[in-house]
Order: sequence, then C-alpha cells, then structure tokens
Amino acid sequence: MLTLTWHSHACFLLEHDGKRVIVDPFLTGNPTAVIGSSDVPKLDAVLVTHGHGDHLGDAIPLAIEHQATLVAPFELAEYALDQGAPHVHAMHIGGAHQFPFGHVKMVTAIHGGMVEGDEGGRFTTHPCGFVVTMGGVRLYHTGDTALTLDMQLLAGRVDVMCVAIGDNYTMGPEDAARAVEFVKPKVAIPMHFGTFPILLQDPAPFVRAVGTTAKVVVLEPGKSAEF
Ligand code: NI
Ligand code: MN
Repeated sequence: MLTLTWHSHACFLLEHDGKRVIVDPFLTGNPTAVIGSSDVPKLDAVLVTHGHGDHLGDAIPLAIEHQATLVAPFELAEYALDQGAPHVHAMHIGGAHQFPFGHVKMVTAIHGGMVEGDEGGRFTTHPCGFVVTMGGVRLYHTGDTALTLDMQLLAGRVDVMCVAIGDNYTMGPEDAARAVEFVKPKVAIPMHFGTFPILLQDPAPFVRAVGTTAKVVVLEPGKSAEF
C-alpha cells in the first residue's frame, strides 16, 4: 500500500512501510501549500524533476535537514551537491535504480532546463518525470512537460499518474487527458494547477476530458489518498 499526499503544485509525499519520499517540494513561497517545510515529516529521499524554483523549491534545505538522498537528473544533482546536500543520487533519462525505499525510473519530460540559483548556467539540465514503485504501486509523476508520444512507452505500466494540467508552462486539460489515454493508468491525479493566476484554477475540464479512461482523484492541498 502507498499513501500519497498532495502538497499542492507538483509536490507529493509518498509513504510506505515507514519510508518517506517527497517529490518537488515547493512549500516556501507557495501560496497554496498548507504546510511549511518545517512541518515535513522525516524523509528518506527528495526527488526533483527539474531546476525551476517551483520544483527545486525546498528540496536542498530538506535534503540537508533530513539527511535525505536527493535524486535528480545528473546536472541538478551536481548543483545540489555544490549547495551542500549531503547525499545525492544522480540519474538520467531512461535509467532506473533500486533504492531502499523503492524503485525509481527517470523518464522523458519536455520542458526548460534552467536551474534556479545557478548563476553561471553550468548545471542546466534536462528535466524529467519519475516512475516510482513503492509498496507495489507504480506511480508516474509527469514533472513539467508537454504531451509527448514517449508517454506511450509507459502504457499499462503505471497504476497512478500525477499529471500536470495547468496549461501555459505544461500540458493543459486536453493534452493532459490525451496523456492519460497514452499511459492508461488506473488512477489520474491532476497537479500543477491553481497555484498562480496564470495556471488553470479548476480541474473540471480535465476531469471531463478524461471521462471514463481512468478514475480521476482530485486532491485538495494537504489531503491524502491510499493505493
Ligand atoms: Ni518548470
Ligand atoms: Mn513548474
């Protein structure tokens, strides 16, 4: 069993068997977050899809405070190391690794590679999505991405899909629903919406567009679901 808590935007806390992993912890400065970074329970790992501030967010301070392993695309992992993260695990697109908390595969995302805070630009990277298997549940976090045919490679290999729907910087409702059609998860959870005025404020168009393709679970910030 996997307990999944949405902390708004692209931030999810995954818990199984006493292990905790947080993805894209953007809590400080996030107007829709209902917890602060000091409220995060003891973490084993911090997964970061890319270097934009609304994803890298509190990742490095949390990795330091919790002595947690920060998992990110190679260049971003190097940046975290440079910034004092004590344990980093660099990966890259297409690669997978078995961690004590579960299995992580890094998958394609089409998006910008700038790392916030990297003045010289030497840590610019390729953003990613993650497929995390914990407690027998395969969870796909799309990261920030366009709709891409690569998603079809995951068809039938995902139980729960956390999908960016907010439009403007990522897929909007229509493309996100096509992504769900490509991946065929059992459950789809919309994310990356409602955080800022530029992002779609209502998941209803996405829910309508998915229809019966998958069960859509719309979480409120701070709320959990079990799988
Ligand atoms: Ni981004
Ligand atoms: Mn973003």
